[in-house]
Amino acid sequence: MTSLSIQSVTDVHHWNDSLFSFKTTRDRSLRFENGHFVMLGMQVEGKPLLRAYSIASPNYDEELEFLSIKVPDGALTSRLQNIQVGDEVFVSSKPTGTLVLDHLLAGRHLYLISTGTGIAPFISIIQDPSVYERFDKIIVSHGVRYVAELAYRKFICEQLPRNEFFGEDVKQKLIYYPTVTREKFKTRGRLTELMSSGKLFSDIGLNQPDPSQDRFMICGSPAMLRDTCQLLNDWSFEESRQGHKGHYVVERAFVA
Ligand code: A2P
Repeated sequence: MTSLSIQSVTDVHHWNDSLFSFKTTRDRSLRFENGHFVMLGMQVEGKPLLRAYSIASPNYDEELEFLSIKVPDGALTSRLQNIQVGDEVFVSSKPTGTLVLDHLLAGRHLYLISTGTGIAPFISIIQDPSVYERFDKIIVSHGVRYVAELAYRKFICEQLPRNEFFGEDVKQKLIYYPTVTREKFKTRGRLTELMSSGKLFSDIGLNQPDPSQDRFMICGSPAMLRDTCQLLNDWSFEESRQGHKGHYVVERAFVA
């Protein structure tokens, strides 16, 4: 049985009518790696109702941050979307997950490929100073249906480059590549299509990925994970499994 701690909500931000993020207090004893997830939830009909949530904040922050969709009839999110500052949530005490830098072989370019709320673990990872030491370029790509779903866009483009500790690294190394599928935007189409056509790579001025130097982390819906893995396997990339480092990692915690 996972042990749970009770944390207080300190901030809630509604991005649009389908997406919100919130911050909570953090147990001083909670340790996690950037990219990890926890089980998070609320008391529903006398019992804790929990779901896997990636931690969007970096592991040196005093608070925890999470990104969630609002599902009108979702058992948890229909309730969670109404939380207010001061409310209490459960957070599991043992963060875990596969989207961690140490599961990857050394490389030059790190692609963080996400759709929807799958961007959350990458918001944590791009605030990890060590990512800028390990890679020459870090590409955060976010695929969404509508422009309003590009959560953290301003944070990535405006705030992160001003970070007092690693802002200069961000300016030189971080490339943000958002794409939208269902309305007008400068980049259109699914990330899988943009990768297989080569457009994503030519748009950012990099070569077609090569297992000898490129690394991928992938987080999104089950269909998106399946299609992206298929593409990488076709290009001879190998997934990290059971403690063996690989060319790419995938978070399957949200698949069930
Ligand atoms: P599309 O609008 O063509 O379905 P969702 O909210 O359903 O998770 O979708 C988020 C984004 O991921 C949307 O832009 C959606 O495109 C895209 N998407 C859905 N399925 C896949 C897939 N199998 N591979 C890549 N992108 C996908």
